Amino acid sequence: MPGDKSISHRAAMIAALAEGPSRITNFSTSADCAATLSSLTKLGVSIERDGRELLVQGVGVDGLRASSEPLDCRNSGTTMRLLAGILAGQNFKSTLTGDESLRSRPMARIIEPLRMMGASISSRDGRAPLVIEGHRPLKAIHYDLPIASAQVKSCILLAGLSAEGRTAVIEDEPTRDHTERMLRWFGVPLEVRDVEGTRSVAVDGPARLSARDVSIPGDISSAAYFVAAAALLPDSSLEITNVSVNPTRVMFLEQLQSSGFDVAVSDASEECNEPVGTICVSGSKLSPASGFESAAPLRGPLIPQLIDELPLLAVVGSQIEGGIEIRDAAELRAKESDRIAATVRNLRAMGAEVEEFEDGLRVAGPTQLRGAAVDPRGDHRIAMAFSVAALIAEGETEIKDAECVAVSFPEFFELLESVVER
Ligand code: S3P
Repeated sequence: MPGDKSISHRAAMIAALAEGPSRITNFSTSADCAATLSSLTKLGVSIERDGRELLVQGVGVDGLRASSEPLDCRNSGTTMRLLAGILAGQNFKSTLTGDESLRSRPMARIIEPLRMMGASISSRDGRAPLVIEGHRPLKAIHYDLPIASAQVKSCILLAGLSAEGRTAVIEDEPTRDHTERMLRWFGVPLEVRDVEGTRSVAVDGPARLSARDVSIPGDISSAAYFVAAAALLPDSSLEITNVSVNPTRVMFLEQLQSSGFDVAVSDASEECNEPVGTICVSGSKLSPASGFESAAPLRGPLIPQLIDELPLLAVVGSQIEGGIEIRDAAELRAKESDRIAATVRNLRAMGAEVEEFEDGLRVAGPTQLRGAAVDPRGDHRIAMAFSVAALIAEGETEIKDAECVAVSFPEFFELLESVVER
């Protein structure tokens, strides 16, 4: 798998804030991460790229330069929200914008804490374009996350690097912890406390980061489509090496295992503070006793740990006894598209029986899906989830504007062709 998208964004941004050169290997090939690199370049960071390898000349936490033009984050929420945290602590003005999808996504969730820290931010009613007048040093804050979001947590921690004193973020539901791991890798001491499921992460500012080489593990959210396809197609067998198996990212594998699919992780080791391993999956005809039949709906703290895999899990759910119900997932409506609506619409088009809720959906199963015209509305994860659905459906499926997969995974169709037997 190409390098993990979440980890790649962080590696590039944090290497840019470090002092001196860092070499990054297996950097994500996604269009999202390219948006991060082009924004960093506009902020005066020199980045040499040779395919999946980067050499980033870090300028230090206070060494960025104002960009003469708006920073275009394209489709990438992670680019916008994490960069906003960095730019809040700079003594200059920046404008962050993006494509139509990104300009319609909620940004008040980062504007509020960054204003509390002393940055001036104007927006279009809580949406991009964002004009950020940075302030250095920022004020340190203690912030209880009102929504479980790794992007918001990371935004505040990155702003905390430019604050005077201790900035702490408190989360009731665990979200991916790549920012914490990457900051530590670059020599920033963090205090992490876990008390009865509530996690607090604190960083002391102003901080200094020392340059360090980083090797990025394969993207488990990209691997998930291959895992699901292999699990659902009888007699398949697939081994995916060097994938991130960070505990905050493996819940999709655990859900498949608990529904009786043959999925295993082996060779776990740690690289650059991130757990890495091999995923083995075999296709099986599920026994009627397996599935989510007796299981309660998926909800609560599980949801942030499955957030990018939920449309795919709904597709898998259509194949198992008892189907699947997903709740507490209203955040899915604020992603690159309204992923609840997109999943419901496309599953129905393929013949599944689906109920839609404000905060989730219920899919009946098992159902023989039928090939259909699928419209992912430009959303890469919907296009890939329904490519898996297409493989198990009877008849032909046509996915509109399927090239949108490049947002996270440009090699998706090529790689899929290489492992699917006709
Ligand atoms: C991401 C966090 C998640 C996820 C997104 C990437 C990250 O968003 O959906 O694809 O890299 O931090 P939220 O944390 O806003 O839910």
